[in-house]
Amino acid sequence: MPHTQKISAAITAVGGYVPETKLTNFDLEKMVETNDEWIRTRTGIEERRILKEPGKASSDLAVPVIQQICEKRGISPEEIECIICATVTPDMVFPATANIIADKAGAKHAWGFDLEAACSGFLFGLTTGASLIESRRYKKVVVIGVDKMSAIVDYSDRQTCIIFGDGAGGVLLEPNTEGYGVLDSILRSDGSGRDYLHMKAGGSLRPPTAETVANKEHYIYQEGQAVFKFAVKGMADVSAELLERNKLTGDDIAWLVPHQANKRIIDATANRMGLSHDKVMLNIQRYGNTTAATIPLCLWEWRHQLNKGDNIVLAAFGGGFTWGATLVKWAY
Ligand code: UT7
Repeated sequence: MPHTQKISAAITAVGGYVPETKLTNFDLEKMVETNDEWIRTRTGIEERRILKEPGKASSDLAVPVIQQICEKRGISPEEIECIICATVTPDMVFPATANIIADKAGAKHAWGFDLEAACSGFLFGLTTGASLIESRRYKKVVVIGVDKMSAIVDYSDRQTCIIFGDGAGGVLLEPNTEGYGVLDSILRSDGSGRDYLHMKAGGSLRPPTAETVANKEHYIYQEGQAVFKFAVKGMADVSAELLERNKLTGDDIAWLVPHQANKRIIDATANRMGLSHDKVMLNIQRYGNTTAATIPLCLWEWRHQLNKGDNIVLAAFGGGFTWGATLVKWAY
């Protein structure tokens, strides 16, 4: 490729995976003081998937994603040059889950790293991966969003256990000279948001002890209402800003691919962008909030409805706080 030609990072394949076991609202009714009606009307969720088998971790959710991507593009895992894994539920604190995925999937020549941006992880990874492609140093970068949230959910806490599920999704990025792919991104973070959404122990601040375990400090802590308010504003603001600076309106957008945390947050974002609701990907009812996996899982489920040239906006808000919106022109 001549060096003067502009390179963008096109998504050339998508993969997704959810475990088989379903945890329905009715199952949760038997575990905590809640009910199906409350969960459906307050969040939009009906059921989620849980990785139950002992000895299975986030990497095991991600390996089928790599396999699907390779099959779709007709390549061997050995051709993948880099794997970026966005997750808050790594197999282990270290080494990086990206390395474990590469090993299990046979991506022998890939280097990789984990990226932690909670629910915005896939978007942060996508922009990072796109930059590697745009730098012209790499031609095949895989970005995975995966979380086994069931590993860090307290199933006696009705505020959080109703929301989260397990899953994985990912994309292959390759260079494109025709203007398809990741075109623009607005990414933000604000560490002061850590007060509202975090895990108290297990890090260097509070290493694990018998006391931290007894106090249930290794689970998700969330002040739902506060996060909700920041999320509604954050996700809608960046999505609107992204449209404006690219001189686009809702009419120019084929799909909004929002992080699936709460249907009410998604509706607010779509309304702010002037998008009709039939252009919004929504699978929260079946998978709940799979953190870094929600956006690529949507792309995977809708892959047959996406057409070459479609403008799509990916948008997220999550722990950190982190948030952002990315504009993609679908490449195939
Ligand atoms: O993806 C990462 C970012 N996270 C998010 O974006 C999550 C944002 N937050 C949310 O989605 C919502 O805040 C929740 C779904 C977590 C909670 O919904 P909410 O509408 O904010 O409920 P709330 O906390 O204001 O609680 C309303 C009422 C309370 O009862 P009272 O005080 O009004 O009598 C709660 O005790 O609902 C009660 N409640 C429940 N009732 C049945 C809270 N959780 C439940 C429950 N089942 N699971």
